[in-house]
Amino acid sequence: MDLLLEDIDLLLTMTPSLHAAGDAVPESLGAIPGAALWIRDGRVAWVGSAADLPADLPAETPRTAANGGLVMPGLVECHTHLIWGGDREQDFVDRCSSVSYESILARGGGIYSSVAGTRAATEDDLYEAAFQRMDELVRQGITTVEIKSGYGLDLENELKMLQVAERLDRTHPITVVSTFLGAHVPGPEHRDDPDRYVDLVVNEMLPEVAALELARFCDVFVEDGAFAVPRARRILKKAADLGLGRKVHAEQLGWCGGAALAAEVSAVSADHLDHATPADATAMAAAGTTAVLLPGATFFLNKTRFPDGRMLREAGVHVALSTDWNPGSSMTSNLLLMATFGAVRCGLSPAEALRGITTEAARALALSDEVGHLAPGAQGDVLVLDAKTWRTPVYHFGTNPVREVWKGGKRIHG
Ligand code: NIG
Ligand code: FE
Repeated sequence: MDLLLEDIDLLLTMTPSLHAAGDAVPESLGAIPGAALWIRDGRVAWVGSAADLPADLPAETPRTAANGGLVMPGLVECHTHLIWGGDREQDFVDRCSSVSYESILARGGGIYSSVAGTRAATEDDLYEAAFQRMDELVRQGITTVEIKSGYGLDLENELKMLQVAERLDRTHPITVVSTFLGAHVPGPEHRDDPDRYVDLVVNEMLPEVAALELARFCDVFVEDGAFAVPRARRILKKAADLGLGRKVHAEQLGWCGGAALAAEVSAVSADHLDHATPADATAMAAAGTTAVLLPGATFFLNKTRFPDGRMLREAGVHVALSTDWNPGSSMTSNLLLMATFGAVRCGLSPAEALRGITTEAARALALSDEVGHLAPGAQGDVLVLDAKTWRTPVYHFGTNPVREVWKGGKRIHG
């Protein structure tokens, strides 16, 4: 698709070398005032001041006006559990009367109740429900989404979830990145023998997922009640041998060593990190492992300790933000609200929070060259926002400023 987007008050490219807005806007946002954006064959061909349109711009290029809006890259949602059957409303009601997430899981509810609901659902049921959730994500400005399995927990149902993700990628306008999370918790049949479950993941599930090319990443939940480090290491090393990228749910409910393991296996990201230490941050920075903060889960589980984004940044870690959208610990699609939480509760600046849901989230999916920024060559995934300044989307929290969403130069919302 070809497009010239004109009449942009302020364009945030997220590429510092393109910055032309002086000190009024942080350089890290790569801002261009009074801008235009040319998309050719679905990719950014040129960005710059509207006064300097390129000479080789074909006259027949379709033009559309942003009508003075704030324009930025489509948001990248880098951690979700978007495919599930059943619901967890009763968990929520119980938690509101002080029953903890951990005790609900220990009594066989929580994740296990989503496993029962997901196993009972047909592939079509899961697909249709997840498709509607993806439409909701588009309205929130998301143009790329990562989706994890992890509510199947046996070969048949894990493959069922990943096949739904593959079908969503083929049929929904936004891009899906799939992650195998067979090691979410030990399958219900193997709760008393987690080593036997790890054998199944390593010897049966992972080879099949890799052979069918159904996932780009393998994730493990490292936590009490889920997997301890030695078991998680076995799984992640096997994933590396099979050519899958690695991710870790780390230091969410307590410190368990998952972040250091993520660094050890050169994981692309370690996610949650509410209990991460400065030593974890140092190891992650050295390994180039991106931190994905999920403050919606901290909030929704009514925990008091939010991840320390400032500490991670000061150690040199790249920090992304995500909703963690799932029916249990974080029932939200509002990624801009996570940017506000990142700024208010995790110590990030508003500019870092905006980068956290765009360019840093792309890094957490190993998609830095493709999405999350608007330099020439990137995918033409663009939002037009009703926002007075670059700060407004983070400052005015809980509202939806998304006016238009463009994917590969094609309008998909607004
Ligand atoms: O990221 N922490 C583990 N997994 C999810 C929660 C999944 C669930 O409760 O269903 C998370 O918070
Ligand atoms: Fe998660």
